[in-house]
Amino acid sequence: MFDFSRLNKGLEKRCLDKLKRFLYDEWMINGGVLMMKRAFSGVQPTGNIHIGNYLGALRQFVELQETMDCFYCIVDLHSITVPQDPKELYEHSLDVAALYIATGLDPKKSTIFIQSTVPAHAELAWLLQCNSYTGELSRMTQFKDKSRNQESAPTGLFTYPILMAADILLYDANVVPVGNDQKQHIELTRDLAIRFNNKFGETFVVPEGKFNTFGARIMALDDPTKKMSKSAENPFSLISLLDTPQKVKKSIMRATTDSESEIRYDEENKPGISNLLTIYSLFSGLSISDLEKKYEGCGYGTFKKDLVEIINESLKDIQDRYQEIRKSDELIQILKEGKEKASEIANQTLIRAKKNLGFVLL
Ligand code: AMP
Ligand code: TRP
Repeated sequence: MFDFSRLNKGLEKRCLDKLKRFLYDEWMINGGVLMMKRAFSGVQPTGNIHIGNYLGALRQFVELQETMDCFYCIVDLHSITVPQDPKELYEHSLDVAALYIATGLDPKKSTIFIQSTVPAHAELAWLLQCNSYTGELSRMTQFKDKSRNQESAPTGLFTYPILMAADILLYDANVVPVGNDQKQHIELTRDLAIRFNNKFGETFVVPEGKFNTFGARIMALDDPTKKMSKSAENPFSLISLLDTPQKVKKSIMRATTDSESEIRYDEENKPGISNLLTIYSLFSGLSISDLEKKYEGCGYGTFKKDLVEIINESLKDIQDRYQEIRKSDELIQILKEGKEKASEIANQTLIRAKKNLGFVLL
C-alpha cells in the first residue's frame, strides 16, 4: 500500500493523471491510498479440470497472481445444484485444489480455498436473493441449457448465479477472470451490486469480467458447435488435465474435422479444425498464421499427431506436480490457511451488507 494523498501534494495534476493511467490496469486509488486490484474466480469440483477450463480460465488466474491480490475458490456449493456422488465430490474438490497449484497457482501469491468452508457465501447469497427477481434469473442461458428437458429443475440451479454474485462481491473483487460462458453471470453480478448500493448505500465494489480475447471458448472435440464441458457424456469430447497420453491421442485423433484436408482457420466453415488450431496455438505459443504456414500441404493426420505431442508434453509437467501435491498434508494446510484469510475479508463485507440492510448486529 502507498499513501497516494501524500504524493498528491507534491506532484502536478498532469503528472498524477499519467501515473494513474499507467497504473490503472492492476492498481487503484482507494481513499487516497494506492492499492493492488483484487481478482476472484472459481471452478466447480464436478469432474477433473479440462483443457477448456485451463486455456479459458486457469492460465489467466496464474498470470494475474503476479500483479493482483487473487482469491481462487473451489465452488463446491455450486456443484450440488446438480446431483453429486458425495465420495466423488470430496475427491474432486481436493483434485481441483491440487490442479490449481499444479497449473501454477502459488499459495504465497494467491488465496486458495473451498467455498463451503466460508459460510458467508451462502449467507450473502440469501441477502442478494431477496433483492433479485425471477425474471432476471429466467433469462440466464446456462439455466435454460441445464434445465432443458427437465419437468422441474432444482431451485439451486435457478438461483446459482446469485451465489456466484455473492462469491465475487464478498471479496470486493475488481476483476473476475472467466471464460466467455460466464459473461451473463458477471453482468447480473454487476446489476445486483449496483441495485444494492443504490437501495442501501455503498456496500459492494462493482466488478468487471476479464475474458481472454482468444481461447475464451474451447469447443467440444466431438461437436465443435458446443463448448467443451465437464458434464459431457462422451469422454472423448474433452481432454482432462489428468488424462493419460493414450486418452489424449484417442480424443484428438477422433476429433471431428471436415471433409477437406486444408489446415486453415475458419470458424464458420471449419469449426473443428479451427478449434484444434486454437488449442495448438495456446499450448505451443505459435500464432495461428504460423501454424497455417507450418502445415501447408500436410493432411489432418500429421497435424493431429503433432498436436497430441504438444498437449502431452504440457500435461506431463502439470501431472507430475499434481501427483506431488495431491496426497501431501501441505494441500490441506494451504486450504486451511486460505479459509482463514478468505473468511476474514468475507465476514467484513457480510457485516457491512447486514448493517446497511438494517439487521441487528450483536
Ligand atoms: P466450470 O467448469 O464451469 O467450473 O468452469 C470453470 C472456468 O472455466 C470458468 O471460468 C469457465 O468460464 C471456464 N470454462 C469452462 N468451460 C470452458 C470452455 N469450454 N472454454 C473456455 N473456458 C471454459
Ligand atoms: N459459475 C462458474 C462456472 O460455472 C463458477 C463460479 C462460481 C465462479 N462462482 C464464481 C466463477 C465466481 C467466477 C467467480 O464456471
